[in-house]
Amino acid sequence: MKSESILPVKSLSGTVEVPGDKSISHRYAMLAALSEGTSEFRNFAAARDCHSTLGCMKALGTRVEVSGATVRVTGHGLRGLKSSRRPLDAENSGTTIRLLSGILSGQSFTTKITGDASLQKRPMKRVMTPLREMGADIRARDENFPPLEIRGGKLRAVHYQTPLASAQVKSAVLLAGLYADGVTSVTEPAATRDHTELALQEFGATVRKSGRTVSIEPHPMLRPVSLDVPGDLSSAVFLVAAASLFPESNLFIANVGLNPTRSAILDFFNQMGASVAILNLHTKGGEVVGDLAVKGAQLKGGVISGDLVPLLIDELPMLAALGPYTERGIEIRDAGELRVKESDRIAALAANLKRLGAKVEERPDGLRVEGRSAGRLRGSEIDPRGDHRIAMAFAVAGLGASGETRILDPDCAAVSYPSFFVELRRLTES
Ligand code: S3P
Repeated sequence: MKSESILPVKSLSGTVEVPGDKSISHRYAMLAALSEGTSEFRNFAAARDCHSTLGCMKALGTRVEVSGATVRVTGHGLRGLKSSRRPLDAENSGTTIRLLSGILSGQSFTTKITGDASLQKRPMKRVMTPLREMGADIRARDENFPPLEIRGGKLRAVHYQTPLASAQVKSAVLLAGLYADGVTSVTEPAATRDHTELALQEFGATVRKSGRTVSIEPHPMLRPVSLDVPGDLSSAVFLVAAASLFPESNLFIANVGLNPTRSAILDFFNQMGASVAILNLHTKGGEVVGDLAVKGAQLKGGVISGDLVPLLIDELPMLAALGPYTERGIEIRDAGELRVKESDRIAALAANLKRLGAKVEERPDGLRVEGRSAGRLRGSEIDPRGDHRIAMAFAVAGLGASGETRILDPDCAAVSYPSFFVELRRLTES
């Protein structure tokens, strides 16, 4: 099996731009396909997941032109999608299948949608329940798993209280709300990323927010847009973490999305004692953007629990893998959701941390990773279980370990950050 060798380094320095934000790119691609005309997106995510979304939109009759990181999508209005003869393939992407389920529920045709072996194990009931309440007829394997068969039709407006803090569930309901017979609203138990709300507004929909409730008016005419996608903070975080490990690091990450529903990770880093400065803050296309200047620091460690979990959900693998480099270790609680991501991330983190010699306690809803006093990590072989964030988190952990760390199946990083290993090599000094 292919592997990537990670050796100890002295520092991480230089300037880098990370690929366009994955969450934002998915939403832009879907909404552009529902708008009337051609939209253009620059710095569209290189992430394989977002190209899975583009593939699905193409299969639904949308014109998609990709030229490097510039993507043009031509829509024919809310009713302009066409039924696909083949099942749609969301590949590894939970965001693709869950958000598209909302859109497909409002169509006048039936669509089958599935994905790879990992996606076929991920729960879909969370979107099926509200979409069924709105009147969609959705079938799933064992009432929960892909492939899904979605028979779209007339939708009722609902007020849905999500039992789960999930941006994907909120978004599926809001997107279905575009097709409903009145104002649809969603109340979430804790704040989650709000890119769907912001993107809907950019495309001309009327969205209102009051506390934890978001509502959408039906049947807008969505207008095409021309937008720059900011860099993906969730990808930048691997480089922030790597630079933080070494006193001589000096890293500049340009053009990163700093939406407040995503940037709690930077507050957490700074609370841990990291040196991450935010520069050139501005707003573009409704999204907050800035640059990051990162220097090495002594990290204290900390606890992540409660309402912080949904705000840091994609960064938890990196934080856990940093645990052994912190003074007090890292503890993650209330994060059972990590077990139903691209892999069972709690199990994958615990097993791979142990392989590097870390002291770890695995719990049903999280884990506790002991800090520096438990000893230095020793390079070993890492099985990321096909999960991009596990592969990248352990590549970073390997930079500070003794000896060689081998990341198996490193190409899985392409799901969110195809050039990750190339950039890591370019920025590290040994
Ligand atoms: C995402 C929402 C989160 C996140 C995922 C992307 C999105 O998932 O983990 O990587 O773009 O809406 P959940 O909604 O399942 O928490």
